Parts: sequence; structure tokens; C-alpha cells
Amino acid sequence: MTTTDTRSADAARALFAERFGAEAAGTWSAPGRVNLIGEHTDYNDGFVLPFAIQHRTHVALGARDDGRIRVVSAFDAQVVDVALDELDALFPERRDSLPEWARYPLGVAWALLAASGTAPSSAIGVDLAFASDVPVGAGLSSSAAIEGATAVALAETWGLDLDRVALAKAGRRAENEAVGAPTGIMDQMASMLGRTDSAIFLDCRSLETQVVDLGFADAGLELVVIDTGVKHSHATGGYGERRAACERGAAALGVPALRDVTLGDLPRLADLVDDVTFRRVRHVVTENQRVLDTVRTLREQGPAAIGDLLVASHASMRDDFEISVPELDTAVESALAAGAVGARMTGGGFGGAAIALVAHDRVQTVTDAATAAFEASGFAAPTIFTVAPSPGAARDA
Ligand code: GLA
Repeated sequence: MTTTDTRSADAARALFAERFGAEAAGTWSAPGRVNLIGEHTDYNDGFVLPFAIQHRTHVALGARDDGRIRVVSAFDAQVVDVALDELDALFPERRDSLPEWARYPLGVAWALLAASGTAPSSAIGVDLAFASDVPVGAGLSSSAAIEGATAVALAETWGLDLDRVALAKAGRRAENEAVGAPTGIMDQMASMLGRTDSAIFLDCRSLETQVVDLGFADAGLELVVIDTGVKHSHATGGYGERRAACERGAAALGVPALRDVTLGDLPRLADLVDDVTFRRVRHVVTENQRVLDTVRTLREQGPAAIGDLLVASHASMRDDFEISVPELDTAVESALAAGAVGARMTGGGFGGAAIALVAHDRVQTVTDAATAAFEASGFAAPTIFTVAPSPGAARDA
């Protein structure tokens, strides 16, 4: 059930022509991502192992000569029209005056101009039309896909001298300051740097990356996404609270970030903080180690050997970090009971999707088992599909 992205590329061009009355000059796109392992470690300067997926957001772009930026999306009929030199006044203070989705591309435009030291008056105006097949609210980073597509399109059009890490940072800044979600940099880096059949092993402190071969197909494995349909937002609620707990734990131990805490420090921490903060920290510290163990296991033994690490990661998110929900636990448990090699929730939590690593000939069994388990629990039916590790942001045409 792997989907392709040609329809959303065509849809972006068609939307551009319809709403702006001209042919687009080009289209660019960026993917969503699945995180294989390493959850809530990115903003703790830790390790993550995501990969880009085949679902992409496409943007069709055309230049205009009046210094304005107009954005429109297939999800929203309204064209949002802003002067480039108004962006500084909009972000972050007046972001609420914009439709929520428009804060992503306009926030990226704002962050790119600032990062490159480009005066808005010297950048050419642009029209941007977006279409996407990245499921929204599924924990697959539909937002990083919008940010990434915008970043590569504008960086090329404006001739900015920014590398891919700088583009990822502009995406994160848009997310943090233009949208108001206190997220880390994993999603933007995965969307920028994705590679076919590979994951990106990222050190979120140095931002150094290594490409890690996944070899799912050679091992006869598929990566199945079970989208629970439970929607979440990282701009409100639990995500920020978890981040604050991590910062409290680091402060109690006198280190800059939880990256600097080892398993051996945990007994000492137990005397310094309350039980909830302790368990939040324990998740991050053990999860960092699981990422390192997963990278080593992939390299030495291949993907069939990482199942226990995925399962341990899920248990840690469920019990210590407390970001799972019953639907995610049901997805993981039913997939494992039906023979998945490993399974865990992926992304920020409180909803979204679980992933299961499954032998090719058991995908239907796992799909049926998860569907039946949701029905038995009285949950709405999940959406289940396979994903393939795919290339990062690029110009399409
Ligand atoms: C969301 C955020 C990421 C990361 C994950 C949890 O996807 O955008 O920065 O923190 O949650 O690992």
C-alpha cells in the first residue's frame, strides 16, 4: 500500500495555476519522516535515528515583482498575502493573526531572510502553492515537510548561501517561534537529509550526521505505520511539560543537557528530584543508549536484530515518559502479538502513529490484527500503510 507522490506534485502545480492565474516556475518537495528510535532526545542534545518517508509536501513557486509573499494550500481555500518586509513585525508577536498552517511557510521565509542576513527589500516576491500527501497529525512530521519544501524552494529562488543544516535550523526556528511549538531539530534534519534505504543517525548537539543502511528489503522486512487517528498538537500541553521536566533534571545535576547524564548518574539523581522528574530523565538517558545500541546492531547484525530495542523504547515512553495513549499501546501490542519483529510509538506522542517492523509475508496478518484489536477496544479504525526510507528535500522540476 505504499503511496507515491506524483499526485501531490501535480496538485501543487494545478493549485498554483488556478489560484495565481499563471504557470509555476518550478516545484520543490520535502518528505515527512518516521523516527526509528530516539524519542524526546533531540532537545536534550542527544541522539536520534529517523528516516524520511515517501510521503511528501510539494510546493509550486512563481516570482512576483512587488515584494509580497502569497501562500495557498490545498487544505485551505484562503490565499494569505503578506509583504516580505512585514514578516519581522508578524513573528513572533503577531503570529496569531495568521491562519495556523500559513505560519509554517511564512515563518520559514522570515527565518531564512534572518539567517542569511538578507534584507526583505532585496528579496524577490513569491507565490507559493502547497499540496501534500503526508498525513496530518499522524506524528509523521507533516509540518517539517512544509518547512523543508519552503526552505529549498526559497533558498534557491533567493540565491541564499545556506547549507542543508542551516535550512533545517530555519525550519526549527519557524516551528519554535512562528508556530510556537517548542520542538527539537530531528524532523527538519530528517526531511532535509533523508536517503533511500537509509536512516540518519544524528547527534543533536554537534548536528553531525551519519547515514546508516537499513536494508529492510534485503532482510525481507517492511516498516508498517499504524496511524491511530488520535490527533495531537505540540504547541500546547504535554510536549512542553516533558521538555520542562528534562530541563529541571539537567539543572538538578548541574549539566547543560541530559545528553551529559549517564546511567551511572541516575542513583544520585533519585535523591535530587521528585519521582516524575526522575522517570522523565531516565527515559531520555536510556533512550540515548538505545539509539547507540540500535546503530551498532544495524551495522553488525542487520534490522531483524533491533526488535527488542524498539520494544524497550516503547515501554520507556509508556511507563517513564508517559506520552503513549491506549490506542498506541494497542497498536504496538497487537502488532507484536501478530509476529512483528518490534514495534513502538513514533514521534512526539499523545496520539499519532506507531511503527512495526514486520516480515514481508506477515504485513497482512499484522494489519488485520491491529484493525481487529482497535475494533475490540472500541477505538476508531486505524489507517495502516507501509513506508520506505526515501530521499530528502529537493527540486522536482
Ligand atoms: C516531535 C518534535 C521533534 C521530537 C519528537 C520526539 O516530532 O518535532 O523535535 O522532539 O517530537 O522525539
